[in-house]
Amino acid sequence: MCGIIGYNGKQNAIPIIINGLKNLEYRGYDSAGIAYFYKDKIKIIKEKGRISELEKLLDNSESNIAIGHTRWATHGEPSRRNSHPHKVGNVTIVHNGIIENYATLKEKLEQVGYKFQSETDTEVAAAVIDYENKKEKDKLKVLEKIESILKGSYALLIIFQDEPNTIYALREGSPLIVAMNNDGNFIASDIPAILDYTKDYYLLEEKEIAVVKMDNIKFFKEGKEIQKELLTFKYDTSSAKKDGYPYFMLKEIYEQPKVIKNFLDYYLNNMELIPDIGKYHKIHIVACGSAYHAGLIGNYLLEEYGDVEVTTYVASEYRYKKNFLDSKTLVILISQSGETADTIASLRLAKEMRSKTLGIVNVLGSTIAREADEVIFINAGCEIAVATTKAYTLQVLTLSLIAFKLGLKKGITKEDKDELLKDYKNLPEEIEKMLELNYKPYAKKIAKKKNVFFIGRLIDYYISLEGSLKLKEISYIHSETYPAGELKHGTISLIEEGTPVVAIITDKKIASKTISNIKEVKARGAYTLVIKRKEIEVSNDIYDDLIEVENLSDLILSILTIIPLQLLAYHTADTLGYDIDKPRNLAKSVTVE
Ligand code: F6R
Repeated sequence: MCGIIGYNGKQNAIPIIINGLKNLEYRGYDSAGIAYFYKDKIKIIKEKGRISELEKLLDNSESNIAIGHTRWATHGEPSRRNSHPHKVGNVTIVHNGIIENYATLKEKLEQVGYKFQSETDTEVAAAVIDYENKKEKDKLKVLEKIESILKGSYALLIIFQDEPNTIYALREGSPLIVAMNNDGNFIASDIPAILDYTKDYYLLEEKEIAVVKMDNIKFFKEGKEIQKELLTFKYDTSSAKKDGYPYFMLKEIYEQPKVIKNFLDYYLNNMELIPDIGKYHKIHIVACGSAYHAGLIGNYLLEEYGDVEVTTYVASEYRYKKNFLDSKTLVILISQSGETADTIASLRLAKEMRSKTLGIVNVLGSTIAREADEVIFINAGCEIAVATTKAYTLQVLTLSLIAFKLGLKKGITKEDKDELLKDYKNLPEEIEKMLELNYKPYAKKIAKKKNVFFIGRLIDYYISLEGSLKLKEISYIHSETYPAGELKHGTISLIEEGTPVVAIITDKKIASKTISNIKEVKARGAYTLVIKRKEIEVSNDIYDDLIEVENLSDLILSILTIIPLQLLAYHTADTLGYDIDKPRNLAKSVTVE
């Protein structure tokens, strides 16, 4: 959450910072700001709203050194006053994360005369640095001390009024990369910020400090200079560009056949890279949001095909409950960003309890990728839209392959194996076919409504959860997901004439039961959009609209079935005219608890 970028180099830093912030806007977009040296004085410009609002306030000043921020508010409403950068005395900073002990620190600083302009924890962090810098002139020593004073998670970029040629950066719990090209050096929260300028970067690790000058970068840890490995971003950089699509979300939905094909080509030929999880006594899956929904599907597939018992938890609760973890437990952490605070905390808890950990991660070098005992990279490329699509389907696919591998050991027959392999191979093409259908007419109907129901049983319920979340987060239409059999235990009271019910029926063994439930809502006037496996027969009086998906194995079909739901959400939000990549109140990569 929150995007930060700094530049120190021969070029004019201001347009570089603005461009970088635009490429980081998916991390937060309720206000933005920039600080730069101009005639040896620090100038700060900030504004509520999108980067475009900030741009309107810029003049033609040029500077070689600047830091910038795009905010997802944590402490204090989105406003110019609370926007970063924050300046206190000699110190100007931008910050991503949360300073948990800011209230105590603020009280102490007020007692020694500091006065605060904003409600933010960041201004307090700036004051702490300023206060310590008054006692100790060596900036590195100050920042080392800061690491022991600030509690919580932070990535900080700092410029000092009395040192106008340097940007300092430090991190604890929130990501930062340091990058370079022939003209200068960059520091940013994430790779898309710098891809227009370079692909070469260093990953700043916990408690490391970067000292970034115009012509050199130095790294320090525990008071000593350290050398770091220079990395190169290997993905096609087009994954960070819209490529003619109106929104990243649409582009990422349409990228799914390609990324899925690449994934399958690689892993089906290297099945030894898919972990064999049969040896564990207990398996937990832990994740948040869509990744949790992927976990629920994985849970079902592992039980059905792998014949193992699995439990799936939301990460924000896992760490606070009794988990009976031990060395024979495997904890699978699913995270696109690899930086979700609750998922990281669950990973660390599992390690503390000596359980084995497996990360299913998209972002290389992210915290979960670095800390988990074993990692499967889903290789979705950059996912920029806040609402995840391609990363979610690859998470499900990864779990599907783990279940497949386990199933092979547990006795999947040769014929079934061949059939499944055929289905995996056909999946990208089947997704292409689903992408070609026209979902706009259904979206137009849904867009007129205030409440929508999604129903299904077992795996179809888990698919519905994700479809419903997609609709809610980008179209702001309330939707309720219900196990179809549970409706009559209370919620069916909400069904009235025209209430939209999206019903999923792909699981053959339970289809007839779901069909009965659809009849129950239809009898009460619901508008029903049924998404079903082709071979399941239904009479035409249970649906108003029908979408059919190909008869692939259950191990794979959920991936195909989510496509109409992703596009339904997208076109509904588009019909309503919303900014699809930047939904209200949300941000990609939730680095706070
Ligand atoms: C919803 C969405 C979120 C994320 C969740 C976990 O579209 O994107 O629900 O799935 O915040 O994020 P990661 O996967 O980065 O841990």
